[in-house]
Amino acid sequence: MASFPEDVQQEVLLTAEAIRNRVKELGEAISRDYRGEQVFLVGVLKGAWVFLADLARHITVPASFDFMSVSSYGASTQTSGVVQIIKDLEESIEGRHVLIVEDIVDTGLTLTYLVELLKTRHPASLKVCVLLDKPSRRATPVRLDYVGFEIPDAFVVGYGLDFAGQYRHVPHIFTLRSEVYS
Ligand code: PRP
Repeated sequence: MASFPEDVQQEVLLTAEAIRNRVKELGEAISRDYRGEQVFLVGVLKGAWVFLADLARHITVPASFDFMSVSSYGASTQTSGVVQIIKDLEESIEGRHVLIVEDIVDTGLTLTYLVELLKTRHPASLKVCVLLDKPSRRATPVRLDYVGFEIPDAFVVGYGLDFAGQYRHVPHIFTLRSEVYS
């Protein structure tokens, strides 16, 4: 019998090594761009925690961290664009250089909501870093300052991304066998 995650895996989309190399490049780019500044990273729970933890260790400028937890209202498979804040930031971002860190941007509705919300709090600057961009699914344009990988319209899990709460801890990104959904 195959062992986890091979027993549920359809195809590996991004290996752990490919992710590691790209996350390092992103951390280096962020460190260059924020030279002389302090950056305040905002991780969007739950999906972004794995990415943020790895990214942070390649950031060589002074940095601090906070987290938000959000969820979409409405039907579970289709995001409505109305986002419920489950957990807000604990610190003020006024006058700070804020970098939102997300695992994936799909329709763009979650990120658009977050960017508009955080803008009202008067940060010195506000940028976005996403590991995965699925541009074919975009419903609203959203500016992405740092992108790890552009991916096709497939349901992917691993490296922070889940299906029914599972697979977030797998170090690579993969698609699931159809039996797993049904
Ligand atoms: C994912 C992801 C983004 C959102 C992107 O979160 O982390 O927040 O979906 O989708 P959108 O671009 O269509 O708005 P999810 O709702 O799966 O929650 P999770 O991070 O807790 O897994």
